[in-house]
Amino acid sequence: MLNEIKGSSEAPGYTREAISSSLPKPTRRGILRKLLYGGVAGTLSGAVYTFGIEPIWIQIIEKPMPIPGLPKPFDGFRLVQLSDPHFGSEVPYEYLSRCILEANRLNPDLFVVTGDIVQHGQNQWNEAAATLLSSLRARHGVLAVLGNHDWSSYALGRGIAWRADRVADALRAKGIVVLRNEAIHIHRDGADLHIVGLDDYWEDRFEPETAFSHVPPAEPCIALVHQPDAFPELLDTPACWVLAGHTHGGQVNLPWYGPPLLPVRHKQFVAGHYQLSGKNLYINRGLGWLKRVRFNARPEITEFTLRPE
Ligand SMILES: [Fe+2]
Repeated sequence: MLNEIKGSSEAPGYTREAISSSLPKPTRRGILRKLLYGGVAGTLSGAVYTFGIEPIWIQIIEKPMPIPGLPKPFDGFRLVQLSDPHFGSEVPYEYLSRCILEANRLNPDLFVVTGDIVQHGQNQWNEAAATLLSSLRARHGVLAVLGNHDWSSYALGRGIAWRADRVADALRAKGIVVLRNEAIHIHRDGADLHIVGLDDYWEDRFEPETAFSHVPPAEPCIALVHQPDAFPELLDTPACWVLAGHTHGGQVNLPWYGPPLLPVRHKQFVAGHYQLSGKNLYINRGLGWLKRVRFNARPEITEFTLRPE
């Protein structure tokens, strides 16, 4: 029996040659048709993933945040970063509501939002953003900085100041602390952690000197800024970590090539953790988009846990 299955010479009716000669020969047209069907199916499933699935497939990234000289009361302090929600007509409000639910499940000590809170500074979306972000729950509240879209700007120096002011006013009215070249400190058991927020780097209100003016150089400090291009200009400040957004991880991040479009001057700043001169930059890929497309750049919520270095 085994020999029959193997097509031995003792069972001529079942030889491999006999079986293959009884099958229909593939024609060139048949092969082309199969390739075409395969290509169409692959393209459709790729499109469904890129336009339908990945843009709303939230990834939670847990990251240790080592800080030199971190006082003991802040060991294990958890800070959750959200960025670039782009509240507006493009990004579904239901999806952003789900992001907030996911973020609240992390139950952190502090939330920070690193800009591009709205797509354009329209009142209805300023209110919607403020209402939803004010439902974030953390022991030390929610801090935010503004990004270029909060300034209604697509290019260097093109922002509209009164629109940015209006976004900030709407957020503050709901209890969110908006840091515009300002610092706050969190006090725990006799120790302080300083958080500094800078206004958008593209505009003439980006003022590191003002922002850090009251931060003692020897105390732990984290800076919030929308654009990672600001990082090299913050190396001489007390901030040992700079948290940024803006790039959306490129939104489309091609294997072996990277993102074809990246709105930064320093093209190496795409997403994730970078180190320069002993200082740290983290770029969050954001939650929203300008156009609904993401590939290899999932929307992100980042949970940092502070540790002494
Ligand atoms: Fe953005």
